[in-house]
Amino acid sequence: AAKEGFGTSKLQFTAIPSIDAMVDAVTVPEGFTWKPVIRWGDPIFNDAPELDLNNQTVAAQERQFGYNNDYTDILEIPGSKGRRAVLFSNHEYTNDAIMFPPAMPAEQQRKVGAAAHGLSVVELERHNKNQPWTYVKGAELNRRYLNSTVYELTGPAAGSALVKTVEDKDGRFIKGTLGNCAGGTTPWGTILSGEENFQGYFVGNGTSPGDKRYGITSKPTARQWELDEDRWDTRKPGYGNEANRFGWIVEVDPFDPTSTPKKHSSLGRFKHEGANVIIAESGHVVAYSGDDERFDYLYKFVSKDKYIEGDRKHNMTLLSAGNLYVAKFTGNSPATEITGTGAVPADGAFDGIGQWLPLVVDGKSAVAGMTVEEVLVYTRLAADKVGPTKMDRCEDVQPSLHTGKVYVACTNNSDRGKVGKEGATEVNPRNQNRDGHIVEITETGDQTSTTFTWNLLMVCGDPKQGDVTYFSGFPVDQVSPISCPDNLAFDSVGNLWISTDGAPSGIGRADGLFKVTLEGAERGKVEQFLAVPRDAETCGPVIHDEERTVFVAVQHPGEDGTFEKQVSFFPDYVTEGTTPAPGQVRAPRPSVIQVFRTDA
Ligand code: FEO
Ligand code: CA
Ligand code: CA
Repeated sequence: AAKEGFGTSKLQFTAIPSIDAMVDAVTVPEGFTWKPVIRWGDPIFNDAPELDLNNQTVAAQERQFGYNNDYTDILEIPGSKGRRAVLFSNHEYTNDAIMFPPAMPAEQQRKVGAAAHGLSVVELERHNKNQPWTYVKGAELNRRYLNSTVYELTGPAAGSALVKTVEDKDGRFIKGTLGNCAGGTTPWGTILSGEENFQGYFVGNGTSPGDKRYGITSKPTARQWELDEDRWDTRKPGYGNEANRFGWIVEVDPFDPTSTPKKHSSLGRFKHEGANVIIAESGHVVAYSGDDERFDYLYKFVSKDKYIEGDRKHNMTLLSAGNLYVAKFTGNSPATEITGTGAVPADGAFDGIGQWLPLVVDGKSAVAGMTVEEVLVYTRLAADKVGPTKMDRCEDVQPSLHTGKVYVACTNNSDRGKVGKEGATEVNPRNQNRDGHIVEITETGDQTSTTFTWNLLMVCGDPKQGDVTYFSGFPVDQVSPISCPDNLAFDSVGNLWISTDGAPSGIGRADGLFKVTLEGAERGKVEQFLAVPRDAETCGPVIHDEERTVFVAVQHPGEDGTFEKQVSFFPDYVTEGTTPAPGQVRAPRPSVIQVFRTDA
């Protein structure tokens, strides 16, 4: 599956300067411009209205693009000669304080907010390859996945007593998906999306080992859906297992709007940031996935069956059965050399060896005292027993199809080294890790291997502000400052692209999208491509470098404002006192945007 060699990308640009975090604009390189592809509230079915902030209804939102788009991909529709594509975006959560007029009844706010969660699939079109895309209202493949959408649970936990509820006595069909964060597109053209912060939607007893380890408490939730539906309160009769039905990797087929989406129990249950698949030399498929929580773990899944080129139906079963592992990293330099400052160890590198510790092998539990169902439903508790490495919040984990190396974005960990908490280690080398780092893993054999070597690609920060940083030896005075790496992607020639979330509280600059050269003399060079508006994080990203186009999902713009005192007006930028054009509003709207050349 690995492609040979690196080339020169057609997407040439001059890095933008670092942008102040208060700037409410999309900043792109010289020679480029940007335009929304689709915004929160855009109607995707023919019977749906335009967004009307003061008249929001459940019926409208269920037929419009959802809120807070995170993982995004754009896949060309076969046979369309590049003129038609399908866009997938998930809708991680809502920012109710800036979405809803305060006069809107609380129950209506809750229900419209719920309808703005989930997933969207929307067709795009363009008249020729060099034009920007527009979305097609009412197209055949358009679909909203809502809290009422049914997902089929696959793998060993399906049918288990741990996932049965009064509404699903067989434990096989789950309504809704929550907290969808990063994701990945499979080699067979389906989309994977990670259910991350699902715990925030549940009230529980707050005392069971599961509730404690996953962060479910007995307090009312922020959105209070439990007032409208019993299942969000697991203390209610018949719903004790409802929270066990979230925290999975979801697989959807964007090319079949009638298909039943899946939740794959074989990949374990935790705060899945996302999952990314590579086909190993042996033909097994391997999915890497991070658990985004301070001091939580990195996982990988290896399929039982092998990929068959062209057999999509078969390939769509591959994530249903296989082995699950959790990562243990061992450094090769004395810990005293790297604690605290982040200075490079004596041997010149943050590096060492690692092991994939088995949790499930050949359909059986590899964890003493736990059944396979228990390992998959309470994966964090199972992993705790085998001694994996506590990481600094693994976000996106992405294998390179050029080299087979795997990249892990560790976004930050403000608690590392605090009293009672683990201190810096070679793989997480900074106490109170504010700016994050990227781990590079080389599997010993192919991706199914249970051992690996590793090194850090970079330790992030702003060298000009005096941060101790590391960019694989590339001169620190020649990189764009970068903080809080989150989502990862590759371009067609093997450069890594990193989008960030949290740079304003890290280096005090706006979040953005960065290209990183991985091979050759410029390995470690970081170049900023764009910056997002005030309070936003950069998601997606999708790099169509051969068409000199980049897409990002701009998530939670202006989230620190209020409905009456908005601080971002992205992307409509309707100025005060002017009448918005049809379809525009004077409020921030999470949107998928495209960045393309003005000379295209
Ligand atoms: Fe939703 Fe881990 O970011
Ligand atoms: Ca070392
Ligand atoms: Ca994320």
